[in-house]
Amino acid sequence: DKNILQDSFGRNHAYLRISLIERCNLRCTYCMPEEGVKLSPKSHLMTYEEIYDIAKTFVKHGVTKIRLTGGEPLIRKDIPIILEKLATLPVELSITSNAVIIDKFIDVLKANGVNKINVSLDSLNEVKFQHITRRHEFKKVYNNILLLVNEGFKVKVNAVLMKGFNDNEIIDFINLTKDLPISVRFIEFMPFDGNKWDMSKMVSYAEVMEYVQTSFSKEQIERLKDAPNDTSKNYKIKGYKGSFAIISSVTNPFCDSCNRLRLTANGQLKNCLFSATESDLLTTLREGKSIEPIIQKAVGAKLKIRGGMDTLEKLQEPKLHNNNRSMITIGG
Ligand code: GTP
Ligand code: 5AD
Ligand code: SF4
Repeated sequence: DKNILQDSFGRNHAYLRISLIERCNLRCTYCMPEEGVKLSPKSHLMTYEEIYDIAKTFVKHGVTKIRLTGGEPLIRKDIPIILEKLATLPVELSITSNAVIIDKFIDVLKANGVNKINVSLDSLNEVKFQHITRRHEFKKVYNNILLLVNEGFKVKVNAVLMKGFNDNEIIDFINLTKDLPISVRFIEFMPFDGNKWDMSKMVSYAEVMEYVQTSFSKEQIERLKDAPNDTSKNYKIKGYKGSFAIISSVTNPFCDSCNRLRLTANGQLKNCLFSATESDLLTTLREGKSIEPIIQKAVGAKLKIRGGMDTLEKLQEPKLHNNNRSMITIGG
């Protein structure tokens, strides 16, 4: 029996990211255009039964990790039912959230075995947070991170770095890890439709390490072992409770060890974060046909690096990444 989740480069895909919703309660500039994105009609969005059916097929073929994303996954009304259904599958279930309302979901997350939460937070400065998210929710997010830690969740904080905007906060973020057992991950800003990406706005892995070395000596900076298929290169400051990391999709892509597939809220399979093409699983499911041949074909067509943008030159060609969606409807 052929492994339908193995691509032509021998990569196995055990990690499925499911975007539950195209809407969000924040408006981050790097994630969506100011005017918003065209939303799918409700009838084109997966119901919780359909999410479960599709997920079950992936699990049957080897998926062991499912991450729920959005938009903001927690603003989906039926999120408790989705968690309950997916929790019946033999997978590690996790979620990436902006944490604005996560305090309302502590019990439901615990009850369904979700114990790792990734939270997006790009600035520790309230005014800057407001500027980037176009909303006034800094205090809620910050307090909810502390709440999650106190409640025993393993928390990773994702910070997308933008030059001249929050790169001066790298050390502040690392200092958070002194007493908090969290992982702060600095993310290289990536291009998506409508996010006004420009290489010069990106803060690279090398630049982050230069900043770190201005405040900490080489002896204090410890390189940690990365988890298999990890998106990040992990470090810690010796003696600190938490750690920090860099996600370097632009300057050091980690596509060789990619094990990720993405399902959009309207039921389209993306074989790569940067893929320009999608495969319609939902229509086939609704026709009562097997989605397995479509999955197999989509995985087989996966390109080696960044959906074909294998060089920095190609990444900088707007024609190439503007065939993709806005990040808000991919889910990261
Ligand atoms: P863990 O499961 O905790 O390792 O999290 P994760 O890094 O897989 O997921 P998360 O949703 O926290 O994403 C963090 C950042 O990594 C976001 O900017 C994502 O866009 C990026 N990311 C996640 N998966 C991939 C990937 O397959 N390729 C690329 N290029 N970036 C990715
Ligand atoms: N570049 C890099 N990371 C991004 N994210 C959203 N948009 C971008 C981008 N343009 C991150 C968010 C979130 C994660 C799922 O994706 O910070 O934590
Ligand atoms: Fe995988 Fe595409 Fe991300 Fe590379 S860019 S790690 S191939 S999803």
